[in-house]
Amino acid sequence: MRDVEFQLKGYPNPRQRAFFESRARHTAYGGARGGGKSWAMRRKLVLLALRYEGLQLLLLRRTLSELNENHVRLLQTELSGFVDYNQTQRVFTFPNGSRIKLGYCDNEQDVYRYQGQEYDVIGLEEATQFTESQMQFISTCNRSVRTDFTPRMYYTCNPGGVGHAWVKRLFIDRRYRASERAEDYVFIPARAETISISHSTRASMKAQATVF
Ligand SMILES: Nc1ncnc2c1ncn2[C@@H]1O[C@H](COP(=O)(O)OP(=O)(O)O)[C@@H](O)[C@H]1O
Ligand SMILES: [Mg+2]
Repeated sequence: MRDVEFQLKGYPNPRQRAFFESRARHTAYGGARGGGKSWAMRRKLVLLALRYEGLQLLLLRRTLSELNENHVRLLQTELSGFVDYNQTQRVFTFPNGSRIKLGYCDNEQDVYRYQGQEYDVIGLEEATQFTESQMQFISTCNRSVRTDFTPRMYYTCNPGGVGHAWVKRLFIDRRYRASERAEDYVFIPARAETISISHSTRASMKAQATVF
């Protein structure tokens, strides 16, 4: 395999670090917009793809336009020259054989595109936009035959949306059904203020404060 120098930019804040460190079956990162949730989701999947050879990952968002705007473009920029991107299949293939597939579930039935597929890791971006039955179907695809890895799902969530109730039940209220195990669910609250503000932003905020 060729040696490639590859550098990922940015450093996780403490909440993002907690999200990275969780190995629970289901880990949700939720709260205020701008808390760095989407960044953490992308970075977590990339780190896992690099860490485990031949890992199969799926990143889902509710709609195609949201997927393109928020993830495809950013991952393409970040990984260009290191990872191969197949635009038709929307799949990033890493030199170690790991693959991140990007997908969406616009309609209730769109989840069936993933029927019979197996992913070691599934990321649900803005999980509160998914219905509970979509989430349940998608989690049936979170399977693995590997011995070095147990399947995991990562979620990011903002309050509100069609899936608000199931996200709240599982991750906030922690009310479980017989088929669910409390220890499988971890919630990490995001706070917008945990993102460090750069010097220039600080300076401009100060300037604004003086004006008003
Ligand atoms: N640890 C980090 N290092 C560098 N940039 C970050 C980091 N966390 C977040 N960002 C950037 O901050 C902005 C907001 O983050 P984002 O993940 O979109 O927030 P959210 O999804 O919670 O609304 C984005 O431009 C993102 O790239
Ligand atoms: Mg986001």
